[in-house]
Amino acid sequence: MQQIDSREYFSGEFELPGDKSVTHRAVMLNSGADGVAVIENALMGEDCVSTCRCMRALGAKIDVDGTTLRVSGTPHFRRGTELNCGNSGTTIRLLTGYVAGKQIDAKLYGDESLSSRPMKRVAEPLALLGADVRTTDGHAPVYVSPKLLQGADVELKIASAQVKSAVLLAGISADGETSVTEPVKSRDHTERMLSAMGADIAIDGNRVTVRKSTLKAVDVCVPSDVSSAAYFMALGALKGETLCKNVGINPTRTGILTAFDKLGVSYSLLNRRVSGGEETADILVKKTAMRAIELTAEDIPSMIDELPLVALLCAFAEGESRITGAKELRVKESDRIATTTELIRNIGGDCEELPDGFIIRGKKKLCGGNVDSYLDHRIAMTAAVGLIASEKGGNVVRPECCAISFPDFFDKLGIKLY
Ligand code: S3P
Repeated sequence: MQQIDSREYFSGEFELPGDKSVTHRAVMLNSGADGVAVIENALMGEDCVSTCRCMRALGAKIDVDGTTLRVSGTPHFRRGTELNCGNSGTTIRLLTGYVAGKQIDAKLYGDESLSSRPMKRVAEPLALLGADVRTTDGHAPVYVSPKLLQGADVELKIASAQVKSAVLLAGISADGETSVTEPVKSRDHTERMLSAMGADIAIDGNRVTVRKSTLKAVDVCVPSDVSSAAYFMALGALKGETLCKNVGINPTRTGILTAFDKLGVSYSLLNRRVSGGEETADILVKKTAMRAIELTAEDIPSMIDELPLVALLCAFAEGESRITGAKELRVKESDRIATTTELIRNIGGDCEELPDGFIIRGKKKLCGGNVDSYLDHRIAMTAAVGLIASEKGGNVVRPECCAISFPDFFDKLGIKLY
């Protein structure tokens, strides 16, 4: 349990860790590519360490020097491997597709939380390509058997970058053409990286098409993670002024800025530049009185991981906010509709659970209290922000899980974890 004191002001300049989604893909794709790649500013959070462990088990060589990785790829993955994906949904879902295309057998598994998350959403579209992917009652462990794949046209019912990426990573080994169409565009890091690695890929709105391709290693300079920056941006909006440096502002990821626009938060993007195919900026956020917002299904994918934090901001905004179309939150590292509602209520806010979102009635001040993370990194970090902004502070129970995506989160807040 970690005590968090409330603060009158919160200001400062912050360097955030590398982007989790980009790091996963840089390691995974280069591990199956021709050549050697250097990845700079990689995130070494537990989820990305899981990806490194799996790719080594499959035969790639990965040397780590701080946040710089040197990946020597192998086009032929080792057969019969057991791949421990830890807590990481991105690792297990993308890798299921990648391995299915390599005509090898493998078992993919993870911790208790990962084993409760849906895997049929990956197995079913991969079956359309002819893959043999068996789940355990729709969950991990997942067993892949060798099969020759045939391109297919896949229509996704949910907007999911993990499912889309799994199909694309299988599609680059399939005969013919593979297309994936999603209802709303999800993050496009896989598409960008495949294109940089020489894959045959075409994008037309929400439809992505790939053909059989060999990947060439590509160096990647990973931008800082907007999902990690979001906590410090929120503290700027609530309590002072913050500057987050070198943050990735890929438009499929910046829903937090859309939420800021609606909430009326004052922010600016400084020093905009392109690095490694991804746009970055320094984000300056200033304390603002916020107003209630409405978010619906099409707003959700670009802020999917920031929704607990956005809901928290709504708890401090004037009026009644409504977030719907966010049923996917039920199948994240925790049921984030339930855990976010509990978080807001425990610190004195007014939040009602909907089947696919929340109704939040904002208050000027929240008293503080104790919040369980339920071992979900995003809930632990959202709780810390809520407590700093509250009247009396409180405790985060089981805070260490922030190491999944942001190992030095509490250090950056100036808090030493007991
Ligand atoms: C991710 C995609 C998102 C997100 C997750 C990372 C990725 O999941 O929630 O934290 O790197 O592709 P879905 O695509 O399943 O929504």
